[in-house]
Amino acid sequence: MLILGVETSCDETAVAVVRDGRDVLANVIASSAALHVATGGIVPEVAAREHVGAIVPTLAEALRSAGVQFSALDAVAVTHGPGLASSLISGVATANALATFGQKKLIGVNHIYAHIRANWLERAECEFQYPIVTLTASGGHNDLVLVKENGSVKLLGETTDDAAGEAFDKVARLLGLAYPGGPAIERVVRESRVPHLVTPNMKYQTPNISPLPRAWLLEKSIARSIPSERVGEFLRAGKFTLDNFDFSFSGVKSEVRRRVEHESAKNKHRKLSPEFVANLASEFQASVVDILATKLFLAAQKFHAREIHLAGGVSANTALRACVERYATRLGVTFRYPVKISYCTDNAAMIASAGYFLHRRNPKKYTTKKLSNIEPGLTEF
Ligand code: KG4
Ligand code: ZN
Repeated sequence: MLILGVETSCDETAVAVVRDGRDVLANVIASSAALHVATGGIVPEVAAREHVGAIVPTLAEALRSAGVQFSALDAVAVTHGPGLASSLISGVATANALATFGQKKLIGVNHIYAHIRANWLERAECEFQYPIVTLTASGGHNDLVLVKENGSVKLLGETTDDAAGEAFDKVARLLGLAYPGGPAIERVVRESRVPHLVTPNMKYQTPNISPLPRAWLLEKSIARSIPSERVGEFLRAGKFTLDNFDFSFSGVKSEVRRRVEHESAKNKHRKLSPEFVANLASEFQASVVDILATKLFLAAQKFHAREIHLAGGVSANTALRACVERYATRLGVTFRYPVKISYCTDNAAMIASAGYFLHRRNPKKYTTKKLSNIEPGLTEF
């Protein structure tokens, strides 16, 4: 089945052509991210205007580079939510027009479900073993899910405030680093040669900075009895259990803000020193990685997962990948993340792949007549 994928939920205008949910014939992305550097975050109206100008050239480029005629496509899959309303409109309106005039089936796709399916791109389906626990973490969402062989997806936990990528972006801004914050923080940590705080044996190596807090969302009596930076090792060793797979990153972000303000006041508001920035960036990354990887480990253990997957923009983070890989090895399960960085961040190949799996599960649901509307707050997978 040949599917055209269309994605415009945030600041990427993307169109792709994918066969049978895995063979990527074209994956074209026009990003307005550079325009958001000056503001340190996305301005919805700026992103919306860029989509309007970019969607048709991106579509033309995808069809050209795939070497397929529009008439050869079986369906159009489009992100209809969740996302920024003013951004979603461009993709959904374009996909509706293409489906109507081309007499194609239209498949509305949940953006988060698509991130989960990014792991199927360029991989043979027979490789996968179920159940799978997937953490999909990006700027707008932070979900831990269980994927079963029949394709159903069960939400195990989500963020109660900021998503991990959002926390990376906000902390980067506090530290005077560029947008998007994830890659900027990762680069500073790598280039500073500050030892990575999450080491194979989870010992802390930088004595000149106290660890940042981790919100495990544990019962208060347990949370008070152990320093939060040591809770992960107790949990992974099975010394106590944690059934709460939700996340919270606003506390760690506030603590970074407090330390930055304290340091600025101490230095009479001169620029933060590179060493201070590197230390805090390193400790912040360690704190987020510790929580994400440990909750994945615990969920995989509890639900007898045979695979652990990372997806979404934050899955590009090498410290996170290294930590999850260690835990997966410890559990004896397969660890995967998307085969290309461009499949971790927003793209349309994952939308086409998700469209394929949705259609395969319920082909009658999708017709040439049922068009999509935008669903900015969509929660249903
Ligand atoms: O999936 P994505 O492209 O867009 C959304 O759906 O939000 O994810 C973008 C997010 C940004 O918050 C960015 O800072 C984060 O993913 N990100 C990273 C890395 N690369 C991108 N976070 C941590 N480490 C990275 N290497
Ligand atoms: Zn995304």
